[in-house]
Amino acid sequence: MKAFEIKNISYSYPSYPQKKILDKLSVDINEGSFVCITGSVGCGKSTLSLLLNGLLKAQEGTVSVFGCTDEREMKKLVQLVFQDPDNSFISETVERDVAFGPENLCLEQKEIRERVDLALKTLGIEGLSKRRITTLSGGQKQLVSLAGALAVRPKALVLDEALSMLDEKTHERVLSVLNKLCKEEGLTVVLITHRASEIKTAGEVYLMKEGKCSKM
Ligand SMILES: Nc1ncnc2c1ncn2[C@@H]1O[C@H](COP(=O)(O)OP(=O)(O)OP(=O)(O)O)[C@@H](O)[C@H]1O
Ligand SMILES: [Mg+2]
Repeated sequence: MKAFEIKNISYSYPSYPQKKILDKLSVDINEGSFVCITGSVGCGKSTLSLLLNGLLKAQEGTVSVFGCTDEREMKKLVQLVFQDPDNSFISETVERDVAFGPENLCLEQKEIRERVDLALKTLGIEGLSKRRITTLSGGQKQLVSLAGALAVRPKALVLDEALSMLDEKTHERVLSVLNKLCKEEGLTVVLITHRASEIKTAGEVYLMKEGKCSKM
């Protein structure tokens, strides 16, 4: 099955409609694949990421996510993690924040607890669970944001330079966790990045240029 099936999408920001950021862009990403999207500053990577989970809607073309075209459904299937974690925190403490996604799914308390514990443990940050978010380092905040996304157990994760503040060793560990989730649980991972080690890890690499996206 295709995780993302994107056909001929064009997108311009309403404040600058003359400029097509995405210009008849097409790309297909298979379920369970680990892909990387790269390209120069301002080429439209973050814009594309917002289209991948329905936060933005293309003016032309179609976006289908696991066969579904409804934006509300897309948001349940795809978790998007941003580079700046401060944009996504809702709660004051780590465990409350990571619980936010599962709570929105209206799961039972026990299930929520289990998901939060497992997400923190998977990323090796269980020791941070009681900490206030404001006391964390940038890299720790990125790990908490990622844990929050994992706790939702999405079918796909889109990370928009979301690992940029991690040191080499932690970065390597997180990439291997993502690889494992991809291989063992069929999670689809889309990494938007400039980092050579992430590009090397990915099974497929796409380059964005002039509003289009092509396989490298
Ligand atoms: N809200 C907005 N309104 C108007 N223009 C925008 C908006 N957000 C981004 N842009 C413009 O759209 C283009 C693509 O931006 P985008 O953030 O998608 O690029 P990017 O590839 O993610 O860049 P980077 O590598 O710096 O993260 C840029 O020219 C940017 O200035
Ligand atoms: Mg960007």
